[in-house]
Amino acid sequence: MAERPDACDGKQASASIGPVSNDSLPVDRPHAGELSGDWSKMGATRRAKITAVGRYVPPRVITNHDLAKRVDTNHDWVVARTGIVERHWVEPGTPTSELAAKAVDDLLKNRGIEADQIELIIVATVTPDMFFPATACIVQNKVRATHAWGFDVSAACSGFLYSLTVGAQFIAAGVHDRVVVVGADVMSSITNPDDRSTCVLFGDAAGAVLLEPSDDEEFGILDYLHEVDGSGGEFLHMPAGGSLNPASHETVDKKMHYVHQDGQPVFKYAVRKMGEISRGILQRNGLQSNDLDLFIAHQANLRIINAAAEKLGLDDQKVVRNINKFGNTTAATIPLAIGDAIDDGRLKKGKLVVFAAVGAGYTVGAVLSRWAY
Ligand code: UT7
Repeated sequence: MAERPDACDGKQASASIGPVSNDSLPVDRPHAGELSGDWSKMGATRRAKITAVGRYVPPRVITNHDLAKRVDTNHDWVVARTGIVERHWVEPGTPTSELAAKAVDDLLKNRGIEADQIELIIVATVTPDMFFPATACIVQNKVRATHAWGFDVSAACSGFLYSLTVGAQFIAAGVHDRVVVVGADVMSSITNPDDRSTCVLFGDAAGAVLLEPSDDEEFGILDYLHEVDGSGGEFLHMPAGGSLNPASHETVDKKMHYVHQDGQPVFKYAVRKMGEISRGILQRNGLQSNDLDLFIAHQANLRIINAAAEKLGLDDQKVVRNINKFGNTTAATIPLAIGDAIDDGRLKKGKLVVFAAVGAGYTVGAVLSRWAY
């Protein structure tokens, strides 16, 4: 591979509580060593392409006016500062795996394949059903993907892109031919309903894509670029429930089991990095902004998306914006936006698209893709 100049600073890397129900456990499990995937081909280099998308958004709509009945906010403030008009929340107690499994079911239907053809399931989430087992295991069982293994990736709003990159490696290496990448979050389960600075921002949803090998080098995932800047961790985090502050009456009384965000530093970092990482991935592939057909950014704030689009000099119709309908659904925003762009005809075979995200961590990611179907 040709040497590329570094485009950005920082450290980059290229390219319901309760037991899991057993009544749905598949009886006929393959034995160890019988899972799908040809590990003997490891080391091959193939391009991965996205071949299908699946989505699930819970039906309950929460408007800004609804929230204004509980906290001191108003529709105009939320729209002006974030672009969010409404979001969807689950009925309390609905786990992330349920949304994720429904998105995977939608994906399987769209691709016309069966669950037992999936070889690997990667779930990006910061709201796993529980610490363990991984949500990927619960999803595997729910969709009856009897030949798949899987794991979770925790990278907040960049989680879907991190997972896409990881999944693409298994295709590239020749190990797997069908990898499902899911971004799913039930943000309403970790948002303080009495904190106006966060409760207006988030929504619940899941989106999934299928990765398969591309038979044409021109199409598929062309490149990726990722960064972590752990010094930003303090500005967006959930302080309790982990090993640092195990759940206790005190942590609950202090509301430490909810999202805590210092919005302004996150906003400033996101504006800078979203533009930088997007320009960076274009530059190192010898591309200009006007070569780009579509820009699909993580939907955290309309002002962040608009600032990045402006930095890139992109026309309005090249920028996918659906934050008005869903709010910030964390790992689900990008697959939901992909689905919307397919629906409205902007994403079709041959289109050059950059996906970009900035999130808690800080985590940063961009993926460049020539759409393959
Ligand atoms: O997805 C992962 C990454 N996350 C992000 O990218 C989020 C980045 N941050 C942001 O999007 C923005 O910082 C927010 C949308 C969270 C906040 O917008 P802001 O323009 O940075 O507002 P602010 O926090 O500076 O607050 C401005 C004012 C404050 O009042 P004072 O101090 O000026 O009197 C807040 O108390 O707005 C007040 N405020 C609200 N007012 C009405 C904060 N939240 C609300 C609210 N309704 N919901």
